[in-house]
Amino acid sequence: MCGIVAVTGYKKALPLLINGLEKLEYRGYDSAGIAVINSESKSIVCNKSEGKLKNLISNLVDTDIPGTVGIGHTRWATHGKPEVKNAHPHIDNSGQVAVVQNGIIENYQELKIKLEKEGVVFNSDTDTEVIPHLIQKELFALSKLNLENNGSTLLVAVRNVISDLEGSYALAVLWAGAPDSLVVARRHAPLIIGLGEGEFICASDTPAISNFTKIILPLEDDEIALLTPLGIEIYDSDNERQYRNPIPLQITEQVLDKKHFRHYMLKEIYDQPETAKNWLEKYLIKDSKTGQFDIKYSFDTTFFESIERIEIVACGTSKHAAMVGSFLLEQFSGIPTNVFYASEFRYSPPPLLPNTLTIGVTQSGETADTIAAINMEIKRRSAIGDAKYKPNLVAITNRIESSIGRQITNIIDIGAGIEIGVAATKTFFAQLLSFYGLAIKFSQIKGSQSEKNIRQLISELTKLPPLVEELLEKHNQSSEKLAHDFFNIKDVIFLGRGINYPIALEGALKLKEISYIHAAGYPAGEMKHGPIALLDKKVPVISIATPGEVFDKVISNAQEAKARDSYLIGVAPECKGTEIFDYLMTIPSTNEWISPLLAIVPLQLLSYHIAAHRGLDVDQPRNLAKSVTVE
Ligand code: G6P
Repeated sequence: MCGIVAVTGYKKALPLLINGLEKLEYRGYDSAGIAVINSESKSIVCNKSEGKLKNLISNLVDTDIPGTVGIGHTRWATHGKPEVKNAHPHIDNSGQVAVVQNGIIENYQELKIKLEKEGVVFNSDTDTEVIPHLIQKELFALSKLNLENNGSTLLVAVRNVISDLEGSYALAVLWAGAPDSLVVARRHAPLIIGLGEGEFICASDTPAISNFTKIILPLEDDEIALLTPLGIEIYDSDNERQYRNPIPLQITEQVLDKKHFRHYMLKEIYDQPETAKNWLEKYLIKDSKTGQFDIKYSFDTTFFESIERIEIVACGTSKHAAMVGSFLLEQFSGIPTNVFYASEFRYSPPPLLPNTLTIGVTQSGETADTIAAINMEIKRRSAIGDAKYKPNLVAITNRIESSIGRQITNIIDIGAGIEIGVAATKTFFAQLLSFYGLAIKFSQIKGSQSEKNIRQLISELTKLPPLVEELLEKHNQSSEKLAHDFFNIKDVIFLGRGINYPIALEGALKLKEISYIHAAGYPAGEMKHGPIALLDKKVPVISIATPGEVFDKVISNAQEAKARDSYLIGVAPECKGTEIFDYLMTIPSTNEWISPLLAIVPLQLLSYHIAAHRGLDVDQPRNLAKSVTVE
């Protein structure tokens, strides 16, 4: 989603801005722009373009802007189409103030109507554009008080304006009247200040900062800051100056290297054996005396003993991982568990029950709905004031330095390394592993499974790295071939049952996200209650059938599809019953509990090859963003 980069210091701003924006490209965007204060003319130079960053770069190819203070933005359209006029930065009518913003200004319509009545001319359809106009108006009012033209005056103007804004924002502001200053502010959208030597870079996400410095100062909600080459002043919403120490940027891997792969997504699918290996090494700890395995977290899990039920909030792919997790926590560990779309939970939360663990799952750690759902739960539980209802929280994320990572102490770091492809693959796999860890931990604490069963699950998990590697070897080329048959396909149905129902949902989501083919996942037993009406020879059915309790049922459901002429693809081991499939994507015959970790791999490869075969932008699919920081 939208990305912000802003710099002030002694080096030329333009190359730093472009470098920072390049690092944010993976988040997904549809236009880009920069504004720099020309240090000679003391005026703002702005350049914007539609589409990819390379268009902006080619606009600027022979441009040398003398100026060390600037802002840059990659935009993911919310208000107004992805066109140059709607790209950020937005400039006020005098050309003196430039603003980039992430988030949504919910009351922009009423502010816009008021400004238009006062004669302000709007040049875009965005909610953001009200901000530079309002700041200019405020600066004009302040000029009557004979305040100096400097960063402090800009700070006052921005503070006065943001007090009238409703919604969420992270913003960075330039004013030609204070050519060495930058003002930044945030509410419910991330913004981090990186501290270099005599210069500062501010960004909405750490990759834009990590090449520049490893020392950061994350801005907290409702804070505003003035940045000049001389230093930083941070103020809270009561206008109290904040003093706190910078912290190290905790980032384990920032290698944005595709290796020999055509796309990051394929590389990340291939990273999964390594993801499994890292997870096993990090979380599965063998007691040297007893030989027993334990799951080891960086936080004290004693409070798990009192937990009687679990609620999980998540969005998109993370929700699918949470559904597998919920299956494990209920069926393996015996703890009643519910999963909610974070966006639904916010407005229709379940009645409060005592001794509940709330888990937020978000690979980016920045998803606005997930963070808001967690915050709401903290608030309503804390309000009761009864120890049994107190908020017990755990966050599962790939970005410990993210908003959720800073907010929640009990963090399970999925440790998948940065994922560039917008469509989540290895982070999904690592989220699944985190739930296996939780299920083992809870089973041990609650004694809900025999030691033998727990040992067996652990032993199956330790076999994962070579199994996943074999799957990649086996299915990469064959999926590429199979992808040719999907060239004219418009709808695909995915079926699964039990622990693999969420895998059917995730298989369908992956295909939709990157190939733009309509796909839907169903519990196999539900197909006859409606979706069956869609079936004919033009609608392939992909069925996940893993040996276990529901295997025969899934095969019978697949028969029903075959009887309607659908081309049947099975994700299943080679065994009796699977001869029904027209095409079999074989997976090893393992313990059913771990089958989701295997079944997802051929589905990821198939989606990838279908999209790649169609010549689509696999890593940055249209309209999608890696980090969804708006509601
Ligand atoms: C976006 C992405 C999805 C992702 C979802 C949740 O919609 O396009 O791929 O699953 O956000 O993201 P999170 O960072 O919370 O896991």
